[in-house]
Amino acid sequence: MPYTVAKLTDYSPETLQKAVNDCAEACAAERAQVHSDADLKSFRDRWMARKNGILTQINDSWLKASPKAAKPIVGQKVNWLKRHVEAQVEVAQNQLLLQRSPAPQYGGFVAVDLGSPVDITLPGIRRPIGAEHPVVKTSNEIVGVFQKLGYSVAQGPVVETDYYNFEALNFPPNHPARDTQDTLFIAGQQSKPQRERLLLRTHTSPVQIRTMEAMRPPIRIVIPGKVHRNDPLDASHSPMFHQIEGLAVDTKITFGDLKGTLDHAMKALFGSSVKTHFRPAFFPFTEPSAELYVSCFICGGSGKRGADPCRPCKQTGWIEVLGCGMVDPNVFEFVRDNGYDPQKVSGFAFGMGVDRLALLKYGVDDIQLFFQGDVRFLRLFG
Ligand code: PHE
Repeated sequence: MPYTVAKLTDYSPETLQKAVNDCAEACAAERAQVHSDADLKSFRDRWMARKNGILTQINDSWLKASPKAAKPIVGQKVNWLKRHVEAQVEVAQNQLLLQRSPAPQYGGFVAVDLGSPVDITLPGIRRPIGAEHPVVKTSNEIVGVFQKLGYSVAQGPVVETDYYNFEALNFPPNHPARDTQDTLFIAGQQSKPQRERLLLRTHTSPVQIRTMEAMRPPIRIVIPGKVHRNDPLDASHSPMFHQIEGLAVDTKITFGDLKGTLDHAMKALFGSSVKTHFRPAFFPFTEPSAELYVSCFICGGSGKRGADPCRPCKQTGWIEVLGCGMVDPNVFEFVRDNGYDPQKVSGFAFGMGVDRLALLKYGVDDIQLFFQGDVRFLRLFG
């Protein structure tokens, strides 16, 4: 006997619930008999047609006819039935789709749960997973080279205090890098003592101090992260960019260790034929300090590409990749009590700009492309 809408004799919760259950069961049973598009259509029409569909009949004969006091509860039940019927129609639809598409295999089993309005046997919607951003990819590659040498990864906050960003790194109080020209300060900090004032870190070097506060020597860490400087935007500058810092502290670490480590890392990154070259430089937190150049991996160091000048190395045959040096004893003084007595330990540090290396590596000529989020550009790296 096909289901017909029962007349409600009364509106007690028991009567109502029984009527609802009968109806819901009938609907599920009929849904199981849907095997073709034609079945689906008549199933849907029978239950959901505006004119005289079962839901409409229920609405008229149960809800509209009910006494005022019973309306809220009858309304609730009727709404539940409506959702149930809609879900059954959806399941019927999915069942048909499933019959047509090859069944997904789950470890040799086909999981079928046709009673549930959510059909877990349907193939899922695969969202495209996207691609690693070229800057992240470059950063991971560099970090990977150092991880193979036994370095671990450390991180620190982007919003930093003056103490970590400058003071503990031996920047004298009036050093130009503290100037508002370069540093983006957080507003409203004037009432605090200088060392507690917040700013956007201008380099990843503050994490050297944070790590030495947290860990006793020996340490070998790399620190990838975002940094900010108040630079106007152009093809090679962005107020936000990325660095990777490195720090190794132990007894008897020498400049030779620094040179050997970085030479190895550059060959791992740019190919075993690149040469490295150190030029004296100055950083407040390293002494002596150097800038590291690698022979141009675009032109092979000749400064020329065929008859044309090589632009990435500005025809010099050398590309500057990072700043480095031996940790200044004054820096160790700030963490002396954690085991960093400058008489006993020594170390080296380096810091490189990831975005610049990514530009060179991928032959991109405008750093802004990295941060505009244009999916057409990012897809090139997929
Ligand atoms: N922090 C320096 C910069 O941003 C780079 C650097 C790091 C130099 C470590 C020496 C040692 O320019």
